Amino acid sequence: MIFHVDEYRCERCGTCAAVCPMGIIIWENRETLPRPATGAEKLCINCGHCLAVCPQSALELAVMPIDQCPKIVPAATADSGAYAALVKSRRSIRVYKKEKVEKEIIAALIDIARYAPTGKNTQQLNWLVIQGRDRLDPLVEHGIDWMRDMVTKKHPMAAGFGMEGIIAAHEAGDDIILRNAPCLVVVSGPKSYPGTTVDAVIALATFELAAAAEGLGTCWAGFFHIACSMWPPLMEALQLPRGHIPGFSMMLGRAKFRHKRVPLRKPARIDWRL
Ligand SMILES: Cc1cc2nc3c(=O)[nH]c(=O)nc-3n(C[C@H](O)[C@H](O)[C@H](O)COP(=O)(O)O)c2cc1C
Repeated sequence: MIFHVDEYRCERCGTCAAVCPMGIIIWENRETLPRPATGAEKLCINCGHCLAVCPQSALELAVMPIDQCPKIVPAATADSGAYAALVKSRRSIRVYKKEKVEKEIIAALIDIARYAPTGKNTQQLNWLVIQGRDRLDPLVEHGIDWMRDMVTKKHPMAAGFGMEGIIAAHEAGDDIILRNAPCLVVVSGPKSYPGTTVDAVIALATFELAAAAEGLGTCWAGFFHIACSMWPPLMEALQLPRGHIPGFSMMLGRAKFRHKRVPLRKPARIDWRL
């Protein structure tokens, strides 16, 4: 059975059926227990909403024992003011201290980010954590080779991104591609899955805020990401899981400098149709 309902606890309210995204829980009336629809096993995406919403904790999925699903403590979730302050105070960090980030801290950040939504709850992302300049410098070198190739070919992106300047900075010992960060996180997913980029970006956006809350600095690695998609030697060097493409990458480390103010942003452009 795909899910089990405790008939003594269940008050037959039908909330589980109302929230099921796939509509595979049948609930008829206040007299009947909810039951799986025909073919529910194949359609269920294991999102856990049914057990998470049940007011009596009367339902559990075969793959998700209820006692392993923590209770939500309202006081422990961020209030909107704290969340707004975190979002507004987060900055892209481009000057890092040399020190590495502790593996336990990175694991804890990923443990938060894995709760970010994924298309159809597929959860197919892979987190590649590369730490240390001895590992990162060769990747930057591939990125620079890609830029040299773009400049040689007079690709419009070369001028648009100022690649000649980035190459010159590299030759002078500066790293514009990964900003000398001590750590890089590459989130990948199956090439065959159309949601890889979106899922990876949502996961990294979640990771980034979790990192900021932990006092760590991050920066989206846009140059690096484009280089991955255009320069096969870089992809080869990354050794992603078979069949995976990079969804996006993020630098991580401790900021050398602290930001003390929030820069201005453009007002949101909103078309209200109320
Ligand atoms: C998709 C994306 C790619 C980015 N790529 C880079 C990059 O390669 N190098 C860099 O220094 N900053 C990169 N950034 C950082 C942006 O420049 C930065 O978010 C923007 O200037 C606003 O600054 P803030 O993040 O401090 O608010 C990227 C940001 C995004 C969202």
